[in-house]
Amino acid sequence: MAKARTRTVFFCQQCGGEQSRWLGRCPDCGTWNSLVEAQVERNPAPAALPALPKAEPQSLPTITADRFERITVEYDEFNRVLGGGIVPGSLVLIGGEPGVGKSTLLAQVSGALVQKIGKVLYISGEESVQQIKLRADRLGIREADLYLLAETSLDDALAAMESLQPRAVVVDSIQTMYLESLESAAGSVSQVRECAVRLQRWAKARHVPIFLVGHVTKEGAIAGPRVLEHIVDCVLYLEGERFQSYRLLRSTKNRFGSTHEIGVFEMQGDGLVEVLNPSAAFLAERSETATGSAVTVTMEGTRPILVEIQALTSPSAYGMARRTANGIDMNRLHLLTAVLTKRVGLDLGAQDIFVNVVGGLKIGEPAADLAIALAVASSFRDLALDHEMVYLGEVGLGGELRSTGQIERRLLEASKLGFSRALIPAAIKRDRINVEGMRLIAAADLASAIELFAD
Ligand code: TYD
Ligand code: MG
Repeated sequence: MAKARTRTVFFCQQCGGEQSRWLGRCPDCGTWNSLVEAQVERNPAPAALPALPKAEPQSLPTITADRFERITVEYDEFNRVLGGGIVPGSLVLIGGEPGVGKSTLLAQVSGALVQKIGKVLYISGEESVQQIKLRADRLGIREADLYLLAETSLDDALAAMESLQPRAVVVDSIQTMYLESLESAAGSVSQVRECAVRLQRWAKARHVPIFLVGHVTKEGAIAGPRVLEHIVDCVLYLEGERFQSYRLLRSTKNRFGSTHEIGVFEMQGDGLVEVLNPSAAFLAERSETATGSAVTVTMEGTRPILVEIQALTSPSAYGMARRTANGIDMNRLHLLTAVLTKRVGLDLGAQDIFVNVVGGLKIGEPAADLAIALAVASSFRDLALDHEMVYLGEVGLGGELRSTGQIERRLLEASKLGFSRALIPAAIKRDRINVEGMRLIAAADLASAIELFAD
């Protein structure tokens, strides 16, 4: 029996695909040299768990949509990212760089969960219970129903879960857990995968949510096993610059909601504090006079957020112009630089260009194009932009300004924060937009937008 417990398979570290033999190139995603050997359990059904009831086909109208009664905690920013709360029985992976605040976030969420649903078990393979207690003290968490366990053996952890019967479980981190029955080391693909599968089965059978902490590699993916992302229901990333206090919680996979929502927190002396008005926070330190700064409104899910975009141009030293983009896509910066050069006639060829999104937000949508291009032009020509104006619009390859979606919601948010003017693409029908206290100025292309500020 002992012999037949495991079998050897090969996992692609890129896409998580499973192969029965080693290949130089993953047949699923085409990556070279990405397959690693792993041991998986041959007969994984653990006898200790009750079998899940067999599913029967159901007619569509008979299915009630409120199947996911969700648990909400007092952190709205956290609930929102999960799609409105925690779904019982779900397995949620929280990734992030070391020190970003994953353990802090989950300790706070655990405390809040105890108040809501009762017993929570926090299993740590990284810290002793005394260390966790110290953090909890600092965070002001005193709940008696929060149980701590320092454990790296998953079998023992599962046994503890069975005997305690908690209403929610945290496993910090999945890379430190191991199963005795597998020969490979903790953190290896097979260990991480099997541990996650076991935990998922337990979560579903007991209808209890489990949060997994996952470390990320230098490239930013959850360490080693991409396979994890296939197993869990939600993947959340906690992001933030090491020397900035803002932390963004973002979901990249969510079986129970949209993946566009973000939660904004600030790391303070006593833990993560929700930032309920991120626009105001991101604009708090804005200089009113500097050139090379433009404010835009970006949509993060359903939420409009105002951000300041800063640009700096300076003559390059070695004839090799450098471009640095922080918070925007580098290709977008190259494109906008080319448009500014070719369509507007700015001689940016010998300029180093640095662009930064203040506050650490990453902008993925082209609506910020106009603000980025104007910030660059403003720095290059030493042109002061209007500081009570927000800039919205996509820039096309011809230099034309294209309209962006949800313009009214963006303008409303800008108006709330005291902005009184907006520069928008002429393609947008201005008479259809009615935002009190907001004057709309239209420009057809980037060149005429820049002309507005030239003296
Ligand atoms: P931690 O949650 O341990 O990070 P992770 O689990 O992602 O590795 O948080 C680590 C950092 O957060 C650490 O550098 C100290 C800081 N911190 C605060 O600033 N305030 C606090 O209240 C706590 C608990 C941590
Ligand atoms: Mg930690």
